[in-house]
Amino acid sequence: MHRQVRIAPSILAADFARLGEEVRAVTKAGADLIHVDVMDGHFVPNITVGPGLVKALRPHSAKPFDVHLMIEPVDPFISAFADAGADIITVHVEACPHLEVTLQLVKAMGKKVGVSINPGTPATTIAPVIGCIDLVLVMSVNPGFGGQSFMDAQLEKIRQFRNMIDDSGRKIDLEVDGGINCDTAPQAIAAGADILVAGTAAFDGGQNFYAKNILQLRSGTSVA
Ligand code: DX5
Ligand code: ZN
Repeated sequence: MHRQVRIAPSILAADFARLGEEVRAVTKAGADLIHVDVMDGHFVPNITVGPGLVKALRPHSAKPFDVHLMIEPVDPFISAFADAGADIITVHVEACPHLEVTLQLVKAMGKKVGVSINPGTPATTIAPVIGCIDLVLVMSVNPGFGGQSFMDAQLEKIRQFRNMIDDSGRKIDLEVDGGINCDTAPQAIAAGADILVAGTAAFDGGQNFYAKNILQLRSGTSVA
């Protein structure tokens, strides 16, 4: 089955001093979604941005905002990210003691809901909620920082989710995040991914290269 691969540049790798311009540039360059990494210094060992930034960036792109919440607790912040303009809100299975409750909070805000899973967590932890989510986000690095190396061992988990999603008969996006570049993108696509998050590889070289970077990642091949 041919799947249309979509690219979600992570603004974590953009120039933070001019983020609005960066979001406009990457949108113009062909980004399918804008990936926003939210880190709290507690669930992950880094601190990034909050709902205020999502709201400030919202007018700079018409593409869906794909908000990846690496925070714990998460429930008290969902309405703020929804109101700020997130289209997809993804939470970590490891950060949600009452996962179904959290998923319902997102849905009640009228947003698409995703569940993300760390490299050390087995795919089976998401199986109980596969019937009520819109997206699975497989981490191919331990979350916290951009620029890490893709963990090959996660390819098997991507394949497991591909099968689980196909068996469900539901329309669920399978997104992969961490260490995606021209070498690893084809592997993730072959394993079944349909959305690739890319920070370093998408923003490499500055704004003149964003279109080429995105095209290369999407096609899974090297473009001269
Ligand atoms: C990792 C983040 C990723 C990361 C991707 O904690 O969730 O979105 O920024 O960056 P690269 O593509 O550089 O691995
Ligand atoms: Zn992310």
